[in-house]
Amino acid sequence: MILVTGGLGYIGSHACVSLSNAGQEVAILDNLSNSKASVLQRLRGICPNSVRFEKGDIRDKATLSRLFGTYQISAVMHFAGLKAVGESTKSPISYYDNNIGGTLCLLEAMTTAGVKTLVFSSSATVYGDSCNVPIPEESLRSATNPYGRSKLFIEDILADLHSSDDQWRIARLRYFNPVGAHESARIGEDPVGIPANLMPYIAQVAVGHRERLNVFGGDYPTRDGTGVRDYVHVMDLAEGHVAALRALQRQGGMLTVNLGTGSGTSVLEIIDAFSRVSHRDIPYQIVERRPGDVAQCYAAVAHAERVLEWKAKRNLADMCADHWRWQVENPNGYPQS
Ligand code: NAD
Ligand code: UFG
Repeated sequence: MILVTGGLGYIGSHACVSLSNAGQEVAILDNLSNSKASVLQRLRGICPNSVRFEKGDIRDKATLSRLFGTYQISAVMHFAGLKAVGESTKSPISYYDNNIGGTLCLLEAMTTAGVKTLVFSSSATVYGDSCNVPIPEESLRSATNPYGRSKLFIEDILADLHSSDDQWRIARLRYFNPVGAHESARIGEDPVGIPANLMPYIAQVAVGHRERLNVFGGDYPTRDGTGVRDYVHVMDLAEGHVAALRALQRQGGMLTVNLGTGSGTSVLEIIDAFSRVSHRDIPYQIVERRPGDVAQCYAAVAHAERVLEWKAKRNLADMCADHWRWQVENPNGYPQS
């Protein structure tokens, strides 16, 4: 059985489906701080294998010890954490406590239980304001906010752990921009309040919940002046996690891998692609740049292809179509309970 922390969240829930499709049983630990309990029924409806759930916090040692005592856990996928960059600058302590403190508790419980295989959600944010695209894994890392710094610290903690004991098998997966939803439209991204990210904002404009999109900056040195990112379908990302687990089981060691498509898409290109699949107009206006944004950020993917034997398969139209289906079928996100 695989323990999935944060498994009711956006990426963790999709990873549960991929794990289940690969024949694994999963146990989810989630404190519901950024997800709803109703995700669980949805997941059980699309997962072919058993999905257990424990409501609890990764910082709660008693809960962790009970989980490792109850289930035969062979590996952990660790998604639980806080992820809003802006919020992290206002509440750095809660970010360090939740992300770093939580990871330390988890690592301690894994050590005690003798479970030493871990797949960790890192982020392309560790590349800071690197403009050297496509970005290879060995690029210099830096952080521009507490969220990013929490990922940098955790990456280093995991490296130290692996150096101290080479029985540890660790994958540090650096996600680029996950978008889309499972093709069933039963699970997807359900942001609280005003979406901070591009794709959920566009989806809410298309469905009529918001009047227009603010495009942050039209004067970047990119092909149309708007920011370029590496959008990757969340199911490709989820399958990348299963591939990482297999690679760890095959060869052990510590893997540090970008998960992206390797190609960049501008904000205007996303608006156009979303408008085509939804047959809706997406009104927008170009406004000031958002502080902290870089012009372009996309992954070098050769390492993922070689080490994980994984490659993103879904294209931009698939990402928009699946995100749109999820939005239309769940205009208000998940039910409360
Ligand atoms: P999410 O907020 O949808 O999911 C995180 C889940 O973890 C939520 O269900 C939340 O309730 C749970 N959680 C948070 N703190 C917890 C705690 N202390 N104990 C137990 N559960 C807790 O976020 P997501 O988009 O699915 O991201 C998952 C991971 O991937 C995060 O670590 C995030 O930093 C990382 N990541 C996300 C993105 C992205 O764009 N979504 C990009 C790069 C990296
Ligand atoms: N954008 C807009 N309008 C919006 C929202 C975004 O124009 O309303 C633009 C941004 O300026 C950027 C692009 O759309 O050019 C993508 O922005 P997102 O906020 O969707 O994503 P980011 O690339 O800024 O950040 C995401 C995650 C971070 C993570 C980073 C790198 O939100 O947590 O990818 O992985 F650190």
